[in-house]
Amino acid sequence: MNGAPANLHIHDLRPPPADFRAAVIEGLGQRPRRLSPKFFYDAQGSALFDEITRLPEYYPTRTEIGILRRHAAEMAALVGRDTLLIELGSGSDVKVRLLLDALHPRAYLPIDISHEHLARSAGAIAADYPALAVHALCADYTRRFELPEAVSGFPRAAFFPGSSIGNFEPAQARRLLAAVGALLGRGGRMLIGVDLKKDPALLDAAYNDSRGVTARFNRNLLHRMRRELDAAVDPAGFHHHAFYNSVEGRIEMHLVAMRDQVIGVDGTRFPFAAGDGIHTENSYKFNVEEFGELARAAGFETLRVWQDEAELFSVHALAFDGA
Ligand code: AVJ
Repeated sequence: MNGAPANLHIHDLRPPPADFRAAVIEGLGQRPRRLSPKFFYDAQGSALFDEITRLPEYYPTRTEIGILRRHAAEMAALVGRDTLLIELGSGSDVKVRLLLDALHPRAYLPIDISHEHLARSAGAIAADYPALAVHALCADYTRRFELPEAVSGFPRAAFFPGSSIGNFEPAQARRLLAAVGALLGRGGRMLIGVDLKKDPALLDAAYNDSRGVTARFNRNLLHRMRRELDAAVDPAGFHHHAFYNSVEGRIEMHLVAMRDQVIGVDGTRFPFAAGDGIHTENSYKFNVEEFGELARAAGFETLRVWQDEAELFSVHALAFDGA
C-alpha cells in the first residue's frame, strides 16, 4: 500500500488527555469510587478488548456476527440504501462489513474514541470499498459533536453494535439514544445490538474468562494511569472482580485493593483499605421487551428484532419518531 486511500478522511476530535486526569481525580474522590468504562479504550485496552471478543466464554461478538450474517439483507431493506451510515463505537470493522454490501450506503462514518483502532479499521474499509466515502471521526460519542460538512446533508442511519448501550445507566442510555435520534432526524433508522438476560452462570463466565484477559482489560485502567498521568499505583495490588447483579440486571466490574495502599495522582493521595474497590463498568442486560421500552422512551419505534437460536443476543431495527 502507498499512503492513505483517497476516499478516507479522518476527523480528529479526540478528547484531550486532561479528560482522563480530571475523571480519575474526580472518580477516585467519590464514594463509591468509580471510573467510566470509556477510559478502557486506549491503544492497549482496545487491543485487549479485541482479544476478549475472540474468547470462547465471550459469546456476544460471535453471536451478533451470526445474527448480522444471517439477516443482513432484511436489515438493509429496513434501513434503506444511500444513507450516511454512522457507526457508534466501531472498534473493529468485522460487523459493519457484513452490512455494507447489502446496505449500499452513500458514505460511512465510524465514530470511535480510540484513534489507532479507528484509523486502522476505517483505512481497511476504505481500501476495500474504493467507491465509498469513509469519514472516520475520532471522538467521544457521549459528548456533543458535529458531522463533517461534506456529509452533513445526507439522509442518516445508525449502527450501534456490541451492546455498548449496556454501559449506560438507564436514564443515561435513554438520553444517548434520544441524542442519536435527534442526529438521525424523524424517520431515521438505527440497528442496535443488545445483549440479553440469561443464565447468570453464562454471564459470569463471559466476564471472568479462564485466560484472565478480562482481568487484564480491567487492570489496564491502572496501567493507563501510570502511562498517561504518571500516577503512583501498583496495578498488581488490585484484583479483577466481575459479577452479575440480578437486582439491577447488569454485570458489574470492579478493581479491588488486595491490601491497604495509596494511589497518588499529581499532588493528591487516594487511600484504599484492603477490599476497597473502584467501580469500572456496568454492562446492562435486557429482555427484548425491556429494551423496546427504553427505545420507546427515547422516541424510537421498534421495527423488528432478531435473535440467535439460543436467545443470547439480539439486534433491533428502530425508527426515530420522537421529537
Ligand atoms: C463493549 C461494553 C459491550 O460490556 O460486554 C467486555 C465491554 N467488558 N468484557 C461488554 C466488556 C468486559 C463490553 N462492551
